[in-house]
Amino acid sequence: MSGRPVPSRRTVLRTAAITPVAGLGLAACSPGDDGAAAQPTAPVELGTDGEVAKGATKLYRDQNVVVSRAEDGSLKAYSTICTHAGCPIKKLEGTKLVCPCHGSEFDARTGEVLRAPASVPLVELRAEVKQGRIVATPET
Ligand code: FES
Repeated sequence: MSGRPVPSRRTVLRTAAITPVAGLGLAACSPGDDGAAAQPTAPVELGTDGEVAKGATKLYRDQNVVVSRAEDGSLKAYSTICTHAGCPIKKLEGTKLVCPCHGSEFDARTGEVLRAPASVPLVELRAEVKQGRIVATPET
């Protein structure tokens, strides 16, 4: 005998049952294969300044960015890549962003989580107007 305990069949089976199979769990959270599931890593030109009126919110699906303009005229921008598991959020209901993967909801004007499972706010981008165009730039 080596002195090392031999695991019982039951222990082996229990361990196998709780060991995740590589890739299986993540497949359901896959952001899809549209190739646009990344938050901006460089300045992104979104549209004309006039596209987002005071008090309005606009989702730029192709760029994965949401922009809102406060009543004082200031702009806010957030990445719409869900902070739960990375799905791109393509649905805006009023000022609420709804993730299609597990139902997390975010306030598009503040980035705050309105509904779990996400627990981390959306990533804020710097929003500014350059030559009449709205540009969102990742904070560094
Ligand atoms: Fe899970 Fe968005 S990726 S709720």
